[in-house]
Amino acid sequence: MLLTREEMTFDFGGARLDPVRDRQVLGWAVNQFLYGEVTGIQIGHWLYAAPDLEAARFLARQAVEEFQHVGNFLHILQLLGEKPAAAHPAVRFLSTGAMPDTWEEHVALEMAVGEGLVLQCFYALIDTVDHPEIVAILKRGVKQEERHVDFGEQRTMAALAKDPSIRTRLLGQAIVTSLAVARVESYMKKHLPQDHAVLRQLPEFTRHSLRMMELRLMRIGLIEAPLSSLSVVARARLVAGAFAGKAVSGVLKTALGPFGYAKRSRLTESYLSDPGVRDAVFPPSRPGASSDTTANADALS
Ligand SMILES: [Fe+2]
Ligand SMILES: [Fe+2]
Repeated sequence: MLLTREEMTFDFGGARLDPVRDRQVLGWAVNQFLYGEVTGIQIGHWLYAAPDLEAARFLARQAVEEFQHVGNFLHILQLLGEKPAAAHPAVRFLSTGAMPDTWEEHVALEMAVGEGLVLQCFYALIDTVDHPEIVAILKRGVKQEERHVDFGEQRTMAALAKDPSIRTRLLGQAIVTSLAVARVESYMKKHLPQDHAVLRQLPEFTRHSLRMMELRLMRIGLIEAPLSSLSVVARARLVAGAFAGKAVSGVLKTALGPFGYAKRSRLTESYLSDPGVRDAVFPPSRPGASSDTTANADALS
């Protein structure tokens, strides 16, 4: 990856999340990630747009890994004693509402930027959750997510080298993502309990994530200075330019569904009532044994 783990890691100063005391807040967070992983399975449709065999092979393997991650988060919910539940509308919008139209948008916005932000959340959970089995599950998934981010970075750089004119469009969409993350930060500042050692640091963690997102965009070569150094007018112009074409494709997607077929129900709408999620049960792991997070369900692996 273009950023090291040290750069991406936020120092919570040793503060911890307790799986019993903080069960509900952890359950809420895990349900957001569960939704994200279900959307990850759907990357399979990008096989149609893969520019070469290596990319197609990568996507096929990634889809299998995202299946495993769905199993990981179901397993973590079970360990916490929490149930699968709907994700927040903002998370649903960020994950599926702004579906990219092109391969370049997919590798830049969903893989490098989007999965980069999610990876930082996973690092934060590994560093703070006081539950060895949950941490072990997350650590295995993180290795795979790092590869997804790396692929997104490399393919974005290749796409930019081939056609520099895509830069403006990608930048406009990256600005929208950064605005959405900034909104999450201001919401957190108002609503999170200040007497909790981890939760009160989340606004600063979010600012750190945003800085790392900008650093990633700089190392990819998409920007030369932080987005915040651009004037409001310049940013508005980039966003308008990036989304002008999307208005037309948005109308088509509303009529036809995001992939251009007649609209039909998708996993992101039905997964909570799917037997593979609703009835998932993971056997208790033996002390010392590494837990196989996909052991229960062939449907997930
Ligand atoms: Fe994943
Ligand atoms: Fe991923």
